[in-house]
Amino acid sequence: MRKKLTIDKIKLAKGATPLVMVTAYDALFAKLFSPYVDMILVGDSLNMVFAGKNDTLSTTMDQMIYHTQAVCAGAKESFIICDMPFGSYTTKKEALHNAIRIYKETCADAIKLEGGKERASLIKHLCQNGIAVMGHIGLLPQQVRGEGGYKIATNHEALIEDAKALEEAGVFAIVLEGTKSTIAKEVSESVNVPIIGIGAGKEMDGQVLVGSDLLGFFEDFKPKFVKRYLEGAKLVKEAIQSYSQEVKEKKFPTKDHSY
Ligand code: KIV
Repeated sequence: MRKKLTIDKIKLAKGATPLVMVTAYDALFAKLFSPYVDMILVGDSLNMVFAGKNDTLSTTMDQMIYHTQAVCAGAKESFIICDMPFGSYTTKKEALHNAIRIYKETCADAIKLEGGKERASLIKHLCQNGIAVMGHIGLLPQQVRGEGGYKIATNHEALIEDAKALEEAGVFAIVLEGTKSTIAKEVSESVNVPIIGIGAGKEMDGQVLVGSDLLGFFEDFKPKFVKRYLEGAKLVKEAIQSYSQEVKEKKFPTKDHSY
């Protein structure tokens, strides 16, 4: 059995072999992914991928806890991060209450929350109270309604300031989403904590993708930064079509599948 990563080992990955992170929302996929990845993120993207909503904003704390418990059950040897949903960390008091709920009700090793320097003091408060925090800067999916769309981050000075403020506040790693590779590289070089990229190019200390994106289960569109390692939707459709046809033609079940 592989040994679970620790915060110290994650920090030591800065500039070393890239860290691999993937999202999962249930025990089945968590178990399949676990031997091959360093970290599993129970992202609030589950609201779109799992629940079919248009954005992540209506995700609740109860849903994050339920799905994190499922991932914990499937991937006991993985370092697991639970996303703080939109509206669950508007004040220090609320953020700490909800982060403690995640620690008490799940096996998550850390939480992740979105935002740059404006969140630094809140993050420091969480870290001072024993919570391991992963930051998330750049394109912030939880700002989609406030900003009127998903906006690629272009202000490299602001991103560097954000990364530095989060490092100073005590995060152990930062997700950097949706920016040019050249900017992402500068951001990464400006801090000593690992930067995990998504749509941020290859000069990162790690990469994260949504599990269903890399497996090709989501067909509606493919963001530029996604590489499909499997044509999952096609394979699932072929399989379910064969099952349906065999049931209708009474080819399934055979003797082998009967008592
Ligand atoms: O919720 C999520 O899946 C995420 C990743 C995009 C990093 O935050």
